[in-house]
Amino acid sequence: MHSALLLAVISQLAACDALASVTWRMPNVPEEGLSDITFPINIANAPHTSGYYFAEQFGFKNESHVGYTGLQPRADANNQTIIHGVFSSFITGSTSEDPNCSDGADGGNGVSCSFEFVGDYADTWNMVVNTTGGNTWTGTAVNTRTGVGKHIGSYTLPDSVGGISDSNFGFVEYYPWNSNPSLTCADIPFTQGTLFAPISKSTKNGTATGTVVGSITSCQDYITKVDTPASVEFTLE
Ligand SMILES: *[C@@H]1O[C@H](CO)[C@@H](O)[C@H](O)[C@H]1NC(C)=O
Ligand SMILES: *[C@@H]1O[C@H](CO)[C@@H](O)[C@H](O)[C@H]1NC(C)=O
Ligand SMILES: *[C@@H]1O[C@H](CO)[C@@H](O)[C@H](O)[C@H]1NC(C)=O
Ligand SMILES: *[C@@H]1O[C@H](CO)[C@@H](O)[C@H](O)[C@H]1NC(C)=O
Ligand SMILES: *[C@@H]1O[C@H](CO)[C@@H](O)[C@H](O)[C@H]1NC(C)=O
Repeated sequence: MHSALLLAVISQLAACDALASVTWRMPNVPEEGLSDITFPINIANAPHTSGYYFAEQFGFKNESHVGYTGLQPRADANNQTIIHGVFSSFITGSTSEDPNCSDGADGGNGVSCSFEFVGDYADTWNMVVNTTGGNTWTGTAVNTRTGVGKHIGSYTLPDSVGGISDSNFGFVEYYPWNSNPSLTCADIPFTQGTLFAPISKSTKNGTATGTVVGSITSCQDYITKVDTPASVEFTLE
C-alpha cells in the first residue's frame, strides 16, 4: 500500500514536468509482471528539430523507480530524416555494457541509452521493451511498416526487480524548458505526436492491448488532444 502510494507520487512528479501526459493501463498482468511491452508512437507531423520528447514511462514489480522509452525529433542530416530513440532506467543498481548506454539518468542513479537513426517520420514506431535473458531489458524501435527494428540499448536490473507492472504515464515534454524556466507557453513551438495504447505478449491472456487516456497538464490554451480508446494525439502550437 505504502509503496504503491510512493510510486504514484514519484510518477506524478515526473509527469508534472510535462506539457501533456497519458495514463496507460494493461489488463491481466501476471503476479511476476510483464516480460515485454510495446508503446507505438507516431510523430509524422513533428518538425524535424530538437526540443520535444514523446515518452512512455514503465514501472516494475517490487521497484519504485521507473524506466522510460520514447522518441525525439532531430534536424535532417545529408537530406535524411533523423530520429533519436531513448531507453533509460532510473533504478539504482542498473548496469549496462551496451555501447549505446551510459551510467546515470538525468543526474541520478540509473542508465541512459540512446541511438540516432535514419527513420521515416510518417511511419509509426513500436517502442519495444523486452527481457533478453536474465533481468536484462532491451529497448528497440521497430518501424511498423517495414518491420525493421533499431536497437536503442539494453540494461540489466538488480535481481530484486520484477517484471513490468500494469499502469504508468507517458508524456510530451519540451525539454529546453528544463534549463530555461523563463520560457512561457507562448514560446513553445508547434509539434504533434500520437501516443498509442500499449501492447504486450505476456499478459495472463497472451497478447493484449491496453488503454490510454490523455490529459493536458499545462499551457491549456496552446495544446489540444484527440482521444480515442487506442490513442491520444497531442497538438502543441
Ligand atoms: C517481490 O518481493 C517479494 C518479497 O521479497 C517476493 O516474494 C516476490 O516474489 C517479488 N515479486 C517479484 C515480481 O519479483
Ligand atoms: C539534398 O537534396 C537536394 C534536392 O534533391 C539536392 O539538390 C541536394 O544536393 C541534396 N543535398 C545533399 C547534401 O545530399
Ligand atoms: C547503437 O546500436 C546500434 C544498433 O545495434 C549500432 O549500430 C550502433 O553502432 C550503436 N551505437 C554505438 C555508439 O555503439
Ligand atoms: C525481444 O526479445 C527476444 C529475445 O527474447 C528477441 O528475439 C526479440 O527480437 C526482441 N525484440 C523485439 C523487438 O521483439
Ligand atoms: C483474460 O483472462 C482472465 C483470467 O485469466 C479471464 O477472466 C478473462 O475473461 C480474459 N479476458 C479476455 C479478454 O480474454
